[in-house]
Amino acid sequence: MIHYKTESEVALMKEAALLVSKTLTEVAKVLKPGITTLQIDKLCFEFVKDQKAIPSFLNYRGYPFTICASVNDVVVHGFPNNTSLKEGDIVSIDMGVILNGWHGDHAYTFILGEASPAEIELVKVTKESLYKGIEKAIVNNRIGDIAHAIQEHTEIKHGYGVVRELVGHGLGRSLHEDPQMPNYGKRGSGPKLKENLVLAIEPMINLGTREVYTDKDGWTVKTRDGKASVHFEHDVCVKRNKALILSDYSIIEAAEKANNELNSTYY
Ligand code: MF3
Ligand code: CO
Repeated sequence: MIHYKTESEVALMKEAALLVSKTLTEVAKVLKPGITTLQIDKLCFEFVKDQKAIPSFLNYRGYPFTICASVNDVVVHGFPNNTSLKEGDIVSIDMGVILNGWHGDHAYTFILGEASPAEIELVKVTKESLYKGIEKAIVNNRIGDIAHAIQEHTEIKHGYGVVRELVGHGLGRSLHEDPQMPNYGKRGSGPKLKENLVLAIEPMINLGTREVYTDKDGWTVKTRDGKASVHFEHDVCVKRNKALILSDYSIIEAAEKANNELNSTYY
Protein backbone atom coordinates (compact mmCIF):
# COMPACT_ATOMS: atom_id res chain seq x y z
CA MET A 1 0.00 0.00 0.00
CA ILE A 2 1.31 3.42 -0.93
CA HIS A 3 1.11 6.16 1.73
CA TYR A 4 0.79 9.67 0.31
CA LYS A 5 1.85 12.41 2.68
CA THR A 6 0.13 15.64 3.64
CA GLU A 7 1.98 18.96 3.20
CA SER A 8 2.76 19.12 6.91
CA GLU A 9 4.06 15.53 6.87
CA VAL A 10 6.32 16.39 3.93
CA ALA A 11 7.69 19.31 5.97
CA LEU A 12 8.47 16.94 8.85
CA MET A 13 10.12 14.49 6.45
CA LYS A 14 12.27 17.31 5.12
CA GLU A 15 13.55 17.87 8.66
CA ALA A 16 14.48 14.19 8.92
CA ALA A 17 16.15 14.13 5.50
CA LEU A 18 18.07 17.31 6.31
CA LEU A 19 19.35 15.84 9.53
CA VAL A 20 20.93 13.06 7.48
CA SER A 21 22.40 15.67 5.10
CA LYS A 22 23.86 17.55 8.08
CA THR A 23 25.35 14.36 9.46
CA LEU A 24 26.91 13.51 6.08
CA THR A 25 28.29 17.06 6.04
CA GLU A 26 30.08 16.32 9.32
CA VAL A 27 31.49 13.19 7.65
CA ALA A 28 32.66 15.26 4.67
CA LYS A 29 34.62 17.53 7.03
CA VAL A 30 36.67 14.75 8.62
CA LEU A 31 37.16 12.30 5.75
CA LYS A 32 40.80 11.76 4.92
CA PRO A 33 43.27 8.92 4.58
CA GLY A 34 43.90 7.32 7.98
CA ILE A 35 40.39 7.65 9.42
CA THR A 36 38.40 4.44 9.90
CA THR A 37 34.77 3.85 9.01
CA LEU A 38 34.17 2.79 12.63
CA GLN A 39 35.27 6.27 13.74
CA ILE A 40 32.84 7.75 11.21
CA ASP A 41 30.08 5.48 12.52
CA LYS A 42 30.67 6.72 16.06
CA LEU A 43 30.66 10.35 14.93
CA CYS A 44 27.34 9.84 13.13
CA PHE A 45 25.78 8.03 16.09
CA GLU A 46 26.72 10.87 18.47
CA PHE A 47 25.61 13.60 16.06
CA VAL A 48 22.19 12.03 15.54
CA LYS A 49 21.71 11.40 19.27
CA ASP A 50 22.59 15.04 20.03
CA GLN A 51 19.77 16.10 17.71
CA LYS A 52 17.29 13.93 19.63
CA ALA A 53 16.83 11.62 16.68
CA ILE A 54 17.11 7.84 16.38
CA PRO A 55 19.58 6.15 14.01
CA SER A 56 17.17 4.02 11.99
CA PHE A 57 19.56 1.43 10.54
CA LEU A 58 20.86 0.40 13.96
CA ASN A 59 19.10 -2.88 14.85
CA TYR A 60 16.97 -2.76 11.68
CA ARG A 61 16.58 -6.48 10.91
CA GLY A 62 19.62 -6.93 13.13
CA TYR A 63 21.87 -4.45 11.30
CA PRO A 64 24.58 -3.66 13.88
CA PHE A 65 25.67 -0.07 13.02
CA THR A 66 24.45 3.50 12.54
CA ILE A 67 25.83 3.83 9.01
CA CYS A 68 26.54 1.64 6.03
CA ALA A 69 30.10 2.33 4.87
CA SER A 70 30.66 0.78 1.47
CA VAL A 71 34.23 1.07 0.21
CA ASN A 72 35.42 0.37 -3.37
CA ASP A 73 33.97 -3.01 -4.48
CA VAL A 74 31.35 -2.94 -1.71
CA VAL A 75 28.06 -1.93 -3.31
CA VAL A 76 25.95 -1.26 -0.19
CA HIS A 77 25.44 -2.36 3.43
CA GLY A 78 29.17 -2.44 4.25
CA PHE A 79 29.95 -2.76 7.97
CA PRO A 80 32.06 0.03 9.44
CA ASN A 81 35.44 -1.45 10.49
CA ASN A 82 38.88 -0.68 11.88
CA THR A 83 40.71 -0.47 8.55
CA SER A 84 42.19 2.96 7.81
CA LEU A 85 40.79 4.53 4.67
CA LYS A 86 43.43 5.31 2.07
CA GLU A 87 44.08 7.66 -0.83
CA GLY A 88 41.93 6.65 -3.81
CA ASP A 89 39.19 4.92 -1.84
CA ILE A 90 35.62 5.34 -3.05
CA VAL A 91 33.46 5.56 0.07
CA SER A 92 29.67 5.50 0.15
CA ILE A 93 28.14 6.54 3.45
CA ASP A 94 24.45 5.67 3.79
CA MET A 95 22.48 6.62 6.86
CA GLY A 96 18.94 6.83 8.16
CA VAL A 97 17.28 8.62 11.07
CA ILE A 98 13.87 8.80 12.65
CA LEU A 99 12.98 12.36 13.69
CA ASN A 100 9.55 13.08 15.19
CA GLY A 101 8.37 9.72 13.87
CA TRP A 102 9.46 10.30 10.26
CA HIS A 103 12.30 8.67 8.36
CA GLY A 104 15.16 10.29 6.47
CA ASP A 105 17.43 7.91 4.52
CA HIS A 106 20.10 9.03 2.13
CA ALA A 107 23.62 8.43 0.92
CA TYR A 108 26.61 10.11 -0.68
CA THR A 109 29.76 8.71 -2.27
CA PHE A 110 33.07 10.41 -1.50
CA ILE A 111 36.42 10.01 -3.26
CA LEU A 112 39.48 10.19 -1.02
CA GLY A 113 42.12 12.26 -2.79
CA GLU A 114 43.09 10.94 -6.20
CA ALA A 115 41.20 8.04 -7.77
CA SER A 116 41.53 6.57 -11.25
CA PRO A 117 39.86 8.57 -14.06
CA ALA A 118 37.44 5.67 -14.66
CA GLU A 119 36.33 5.73 -11.02
CA ILE A 120 36.02 9.52 -10.93
CA GLU A 121 33.79 9.28 -14.00
CA LEU A 122 31.68 6.52 -12.39
CA VAL A 123 31.04 8.71 -9.35
CA LYS A 124 30.11 11.69 -11.53
CA VAL A 125 27.80 9.73 -13.83
CA THR A 126 26.05 7.93 -10.96
CA LYS A 127 25.29 11.24 -9.26
CA GLU A 128 24.05 12.67 -12.57
CA SER A 129 21.82 9.62 -13.06
CA LEU A 130 20.16 10.26 -9.70
CA TYR A 131 19.19 13.76 -10.86
CA LYS A 132 18.02 12.41 -14.24
CA GLY A 133 15.72 10.07 -12.30
CA ILE A 134 14.53 12.85 -10.01
CA GLU A 135 13.53 14.95 -13.06
CA LYS A 136 10.98 12.25 -13.87
CA ALA A 137 9.49 12.19 -10.34
CA ILE A 138 6.45 14.25 -11.27
CA VAL A 139 2.69 13.64 -11.12
CA ASN A 140 1.31 11.30 -13.81
CA ASN A 141 4.70 9.83 -14.67
CA ARG A 142 5.35 6.26 -13.56
CA ILE A 143 8.02 4.54 -11.47
CA GLY A 144 9.39 3.06 -14.72
CA ASP A 145 10.07 6.57 -16.06
CA ILE A 146 12.39 7.32 -13.14
CA ALA A 147 13.96 3.86 -13.36
CA HIS A 148 14.54 4.10 -17.07
CA ALA A 149 16.15 7.54 -16.84
CA ILE A 150 18.71 6.15 -14.38
CA GLN A 151 19.37 3.05 -16.47
CA GLU A 152 19.66 5.05 -19.67
CA HIS A 153 22.32 7.39 -18.32
CA THR A 154 24.41 4.68 -16.62
CA GLU A 155 23.99 1.37 -18.45
CA ILE A 156 22.92 2.43 -21.93
CA LYS A 157 25.03 5.58 -22.25
CA HIS A 158 28.13 4.59 -20.23
CA GLY A 159 28.07 0.77 -20.21
CA TYR A 160 28.04 0.49 -16.42
CA GLY A 161 26.40 -2.34 -14.48
CA VAL A 162 23.07 -1.46 -12.87
CA VAL A 163 22.51 -3.63 -9.82
CA ARG A 164 19.24 -5.55 -10.11
CA GLU A 165 19.01 -7.20 -6.67
CA LEU A 166 18.61 -3.98 -4.66
CA VAL A 167 16.18 -1.14 -5.23
CA GLY A 168 15.03 2.18 -3.77
CA HIS A 169 11.73 2.51 -1.97
CA GLY A 170 8.93 4.60 -0.57
CA LEU A 171 9.78 6.37 2.68
CA GLY A 172 7.67 7.70 5.53
CA ARG A 173 6.74 6.40 8.96
CA SER A 174 8.65 3.28 7.87
CA LEU A 175 12.11 2.98 6.32
CA HIS A 176 10.84 0.80 3.51
CA GLU A 177 7.40 1.55 2.12
CA ASP A 178 5.76 0.79 -1.21
CA PRO A 179 6.47 1.21 -4.02
CA GLN A 180 9.79 -0.39 -4.90
CA MET A 181 12.02 1.97 -6.87
CA PRO A 182 14.34 0.01 -9.19
CA ASN A 183 17.20 1.64 -11.10
CA TYR A 184 16.27 -0.11 -14.35
CA GLY A 185 13.01 -0.54 -16.21
CA LYS A 186 10.74 0.44 -19.04
CA ARG A 187 9.35 3.91 -19.63
CA GLY A 188 5.63 4.10 -18.82
CA SER A 189 5.69 0.96 -16.62
CA GLY A 190 4.89 0.52 -12.94
CA PRO A 191 2.77 2.50 -10.46
CA LYS A 192 1.61 5.96 -11.46
CA LEU A 193 3.10 8.82 -9.43
CA LYS A 194 0.74 10.99 -7.39
CA GLU A 195 1.44 14.19 -5.51
CA ASN A 196 3.31 13.84 -2.17
CA LEU A 197 4.58 10.33 -2.67
CA VAL A 198 8.01 10.35 -0.99
CA LEU A 199 10.64 8.12 -2.58
CA ALA A 200 14.18 7.18 -1.63
CA ILE A 201 15.81 6.99 -5.06
CA GLU A 202 19.17 5.23 -4.85
CA PRO A 203 21.17 4.19 -7.91
CA MET A 204 23.78 1.51 -7.16
CA ILE A 205 26.06 1.47 -10.20
CA ASN A 206 29.05 -0.76 -10.93
CA LEU A 207 32.07 0.06 -13.08
CA GLY A 208 32.07 -3.49 -14.46
CA THR A 209 29.56 -6.32 -14.23
CA ARG A 210 26.17 -5.71 -12.64
CA GLU A 211 26.47 -9.01 -10.78
CA VAL A 212 26.80 -8.89 -7.01
CA TYR A 213 26.97 -11.30 -4.09
CA THR A 214 26.39 -11.05 -0.35
CA ASP A 215 29.33 -11.68 1.96
CA LYS A 216 29.18 -14.31 4.70
CA ASP A 217 28.36 -11.61 7.27
CA GLY A 218 24.88 -11.70 5.69
CA TRP A 219 24.87 -7.97 4.82
CA THR A 220 27.85 -6.74 2.81
CA VAL A 221 26.98 -6.66 -0.90
CA LYS A 222 30.00 -6.75 -3.24
CA THR A 223 30.62 -6.69 -6.97
CA ARG A 224 31.32 -10.10 -8.52
CA ASP A 225 34.33 -8.80 -10.46
CA GLY A 226 35.85 -6.79 -7.60
CA LYS A 227 35.56 -3.51 -9.49
CA ALA A 228 34.24 -0.33 -7.88
CA SER A 229 30.61 0.47 -7.18
CA VAL A 230 28.99 3.81 -6.40
CA HIS A 231 25.81 4.65 -4.48
CA PHE A 232 23.95 7.94 -4.20
CA GLU A 233 20.55 8.36 -2.54
CA HIS A 234 18.15 11.28 -2.22
CA ASP A 235 14.75 11.55 -0.52
CA VAL A 236 12.37 13.01 -3.06
CA CYS A 237 8.76 14.20 -2.92
CA VAL A 238 6.67 13.87 -6.09
CA LYS A 239 5.14 17.19 -7.19
CA ARG A 240 3.14 18.42 -10.16
CA ASN A 241 5.84 20.20 -12.20
CA LYS A 242 9.13 19.59 -10.44
CA ALA A 243 10.07 17.09 -7.73
CA LEU A 244 10.99 18.47 -4.32
CA ILE A 245 14.31 17.08 -3.07
CA LEU A 246 14.05 16.79 0.72
CA SER A 247 17.70 15.92 1.38
CA ASP A 248 20.43 18.42 0.50
CA TYR A 249 23.73 17.68 -1.23
CA SER A 250 24.80 21.34 -1.41
CA ILE A 251 26.02 21.43 2.21
CA ILE A 252 27.81 18.10 1.81
CA GLU A 253 29.44 19.24 -1.44
CA ALA A 254 30.61 22.52 0.10
CA ALA A 255 32.24 20.64 3.00
CA GLU A 256 33.71 18.08 0.60
CA LYS A 257 35.30 20.83 -1.50
CA ALA A 258 36.73 22.69 1.50
CA ASN A 259 38.09 19.46 2.97
CA ASN A 260 39.70 18.42 -0.34
CA GLU A 261 41.41 21.79 -0.65
CA LEU A 262 42.64 21.60 2.93
CA ASN A 263 43.98 18.06 2.54
CA SER A 264 45.66 18.75 -0.80
CA THR A 265 47.63 21.70 0.68
CA TYR A 266 49.42 19.21 2.94
CA TYR A 267 51.04 17.35 0.06
N1 MF3 B 1 19.49 2.89 2.11
C1 MF3 B 1 19.44 1.49 2.40
C2 MF3 B 1 18.05 0.96 2.24
O1 MF3 B 1 17.19 1.72 1.96
C3 MF3 B 1 20.04 1.17 3.69
C4 MF3 B 1 19.39 0.18 4.57
S1 MF3 B 1 20.57 -0.48 5.58
C5 MF3 B 1 19.80 -1.23 6.82
O2 MF3 B 1 17.80 -0.21 2.29
F1 MF3 B 1 20.68 -1.53 7.69
F2 MF3 B 1 18.94 -0.43 7.36
F3 MF3 B 1 19.17 -2.26 6.37
CO1 CO C 1 17.30 3.63 1.17
